[in-house]
Amino acid sequence: MASGSAASDAIEGRAQALYRRAVGRAPSAVASASGRVNLIGDHIDYAGGAVLPMAIAAHTAVAIGPSASGEDNFASEWSGDSRWSRYAQGVLLELRARLPESRALAMPRTVAVASDIPVGAGLSSSAALEVAVARAALADAAIELPPREIALLCQRAEHLHAGVPCGIMDQWCVAHARPGEAILLDCASLDSRPVALPAELAISLVDSGVRHALRDGGYAARRADVEEAAKQLRVAHLAQLPRARWPEIDALPERLARRARHVVREHARVGEAVAALGRGDLARFGELLSESHASLRDDFDVSTPELDAIVAEALRGGALGARMTGGGFGGMAIVARRGPATPGSR
Ligand code: GLA
Repeated sequence: MASGSAASDAIEGRAQALYRRAVGRAPSAVASASGRVNLIGDHIDYAGGAVLPMAIAAHTAVAIGPSASGEDNFASEWSGDSRWSRYAQGVLLELRARLPESRALAMPRTVAVASDIPVGAGLSSSAALEVAVARAALADAAIELPPREIALLCQRAEHLHAGVPCGIMDQWCVAHARPGEAILLDCASLDSRPVALPAELAISLVDSGVRHALRDGGYAARRADVEEAAKQLRVAHLAQLPRARWPEIDALPERLARRARHVVREHARVGEAVAALGRGDLARFGELLSESHASLRDDFDVSTPELDAIVAEALRGGALGARMTGGGFGGMAIVARRGPATPGSR
């Protein structure tokens, strides 16, 4: 399931070469998956909110085949860091549990990974790895699963084997979107549809240089706050708290109130952003990005001084809007400008 572009072909070639070095012969299957950038709607996927992520040109490729050692083996270009292999192993274990009749899946595998998605930068390097492993292992076993099932299986692998209580946005986007295509996903119903981006909207990525690890606790703590707020407000999906009930948020303990305020407003902003794109109102779209950043910074406490500085500078320089993107605690910011779509991000 390669995307067929020259860039992903080159990365698949690197994964194949790694496999060959590890095992001494050619892999039996190779597949890739792209990273994603979220345009708007952060920290609301696990609250049943709507999100608007987009696949990017950067890829992770996986070459897979029999293992020489009698157990699963993992090789990557990330020298000295083996934490990533828990994600790959988790996907293999979940595939085996889901498809126990497959003999190919049951056999020990060597998984070789090459990628040009920076790790910990908010571009979903983990979801791309998970989906690429799933695609390669399924191709090797000659089994097809719909993208929806691949996304849910990879999310489960991340929960159970990597210990990150992530939402569904990343795996869904990576399993469904083509580079440059945005997807509106309702994370409560899992209804999704592509959203066209105006040709005169340029989205660029700016790296804060700070790397996060979502397992470091901040992410799980935010999710726990959101679940506690939902419990106290007696609502299944906090993002969908009806507007008439928003005043009840003020009665929550201060920190939970700020978290809840972010969630309900961010969900509303996603709907507004899609409407603004639909009518070509780039100015309003940009404002919503900047409002989202302020909310993630002040109410959700997931931005960093480096990300805040990037956003402030972009706005001073005349950008339509800018915001941190993804889980936060470092990583990337996106900047929206009027102009031709930027290569690399679109
Ligand atoms: C990470 C998680 C996603 C989502 C974002 C924040 O990328 O994997 O599920 O919660 O953070 O929007």
